[in-house]
Amino acid sequence: MKGLLSAGADFRRAGRPWIRHRLSPMSRIRPKVFVIVPAAGSGERLGGQVKKQFLLLREKPIIVHTLQRFEHCSDVDEIAIAVPEQSIAEMESLVSHYRLHKVSLVTVGGVHRQDSVANVLRKFVFRPSDIVLVHDGVRPFVEPKRISQVIRACKEHDAAVLGVQPKDTIRRSRGGEFFEETLDRNALWQVQTPQAFKASLLVKAFKNAKRHRMYATDEAALVERVGVNAKIVEGSYDNIKITTQEDLELGRLILERWRTKGLL
Ligand code: CTP
Ligand code: MG
Repeated sequence: MKGLLSAGADFRRAGRPWIRHRLSPMSRIRPKVFVIVPAAGSGERLGGQVKKQFLLLREKPIIVHTLQRFEHCSDVDEIAIAVPEQSIAEMESLVSHYRLHKVSLVTVGGVHRQDSVANVLRKFVFRPSDIVLVHDGVRPFVEPKRISQVIRACKEHDAAVLGVQPKDTIRRSRGGEFFEETLDRNALWQVQTPQAFKASLLVKAFKNAKRHRMYATDEAALVERVGVNAKIVEGSYDNIKITTQEDLELGRLILERWRTKGLL
């Protein structure tokens, strides 16, 4: 009750409508979970006429497989997607055709993946204590239970990321001609998505990146720059990113295995 009263006082100071006081205690305490899905790339490494996020895997676009993983995760509240400008109408019709009820926003992406995420981040309305996940639109094999694990770890550590350890030996070569050293495999991780962050932390990291004109391939790297290390959550080797033609073929096999195991 004490917490509620003081929160009420904050709302008054901020000039917010008094109706906010009437939120139930549960809706105050439980942070909402938002998911940003960047799907605005051009898929150059895979090539072809159709952008890879819209290619079919068993008669369903890859982006729909991806969104369904989050639609079916009970810990997720809202989803927003960034797509290329010319694909907005197509994406909206997929959302309604597949009844993706959690999708609250379809918007345009930017030049780089990070710009696409930033575009959505600007448009989503959340509270600082909410949780924001970022997940590649072309990573259709993430299990809802792993999404929940990342969310749980984020609640404790403010930042959490799925990853797997490499199975091969990894060596370093700066010139690309001769090996120089073997890296300690136990200290290495292949980073996946989803990556989850306390909303206020992610906003701070993006502001910092903008100020320093900094680009990274994932959000965890941006968050590290503002002094927070993400908690590692062990992922699955099935959670591949469809990048090249081989990944598409591998994706078809994974989907078949999931179907026979009754995971879909
Ligand atoms: N992405 C995005 N906006 C961009 C670039 C990428 O939203 N400007 C998205 C992609 O659509 C994909 C995810 O980020 O869902 C991961 O990017 P990647 O696999 O590199 O996809 P593409 O950039 O489309 O592929 P490529 O790099 O081969 O062109
Ligand atoms: Mg790319």
